[in-house]
Amino acid sequence: MKKPVIAIDGYSSTGKSSISKIIAEKLGIVHLDTGALYRGITWFALQNCTDKDGNISLPKLYDSFPVISLEFKRDEDELVLYVNQINISKEIRTAEVSDHVSFIAKQKEVRDFLLETQRSIARNGGVIMDGRDIGTVVLPSADFKFFLTASIEERTRRRYEELLALGLEAHIDQVRENLIERDRIDSEREISPLKKADDAIEIDNTNLSKSQTIESILYHLKKINDFY
Ligand code: DC
Repeated sequence: MKKPVIAIDGYSSTGKSSISKIIAEKLGIVHLDTGALYRGITWFALQNCTDKDGNISLPKLYDSFPVISLEFKRDEDELVLYVNQINISKEIRTAEVSDHVSFIAKQKEVRDFLLETQRSIARNGGVIMDGRDIGTVVLPSADFKFFLTASIEERTRRRYEELLALGLEAHIDQVRENLIERDRIDSEREISPLKKADDAIEIDNTNLSKSQTIESILYHLKKINDFY
């Protein structure tokens, strides 16, 4: 029987990915963090597609699309991204990638390039995909859609602690500025902006712990029995 397709969208650092990962484990389905794809392309561009001043050159990036291999390898229930056979899980979390990723993510060419990769992973069901436009554009027919929000103060605190836990250098004011700026670019961009799908369930988790947010999502997913 077909397993469900679940879309989780929302603002940066609302816990989308870590929450999706736990729900995937509970339901025995796969989790795909689509932000990692945009971060992977950004990392590749910073490494290989800069102009003489060190800025990302979009024409160079687009010329490189045919030679960029994006591969997800299964690590338990997690799909880990490899760009040209390199596991870049840690590199894509650096401040340098975070500072450039929204610029890359707003380009139509980039979004078109990544669309089929995302859809093909959901084709056989059994996936929880988190991002910004999953419920609206990538998987408009998803079986369940959620939209997560939280206050900027709480999201700053979470991202700051996440970076420290990864052993990366972080300054709380910069983390806050980066979140505000990325939310602005992600929400205002012309193509596939960050937006709640009309049929998504919104959860503000400012005052909810991770496990309370998971409980809330699982409560809505109780209809999932239909799938087994
Ligand atoms: O979830 P994240 O912070 O790792 O996402 C990184 C960036 O990628 C974010 O600024 C917006 C962009 N993104 C997007 O535009 N569409 C998605 N489906 C996922 C992420």
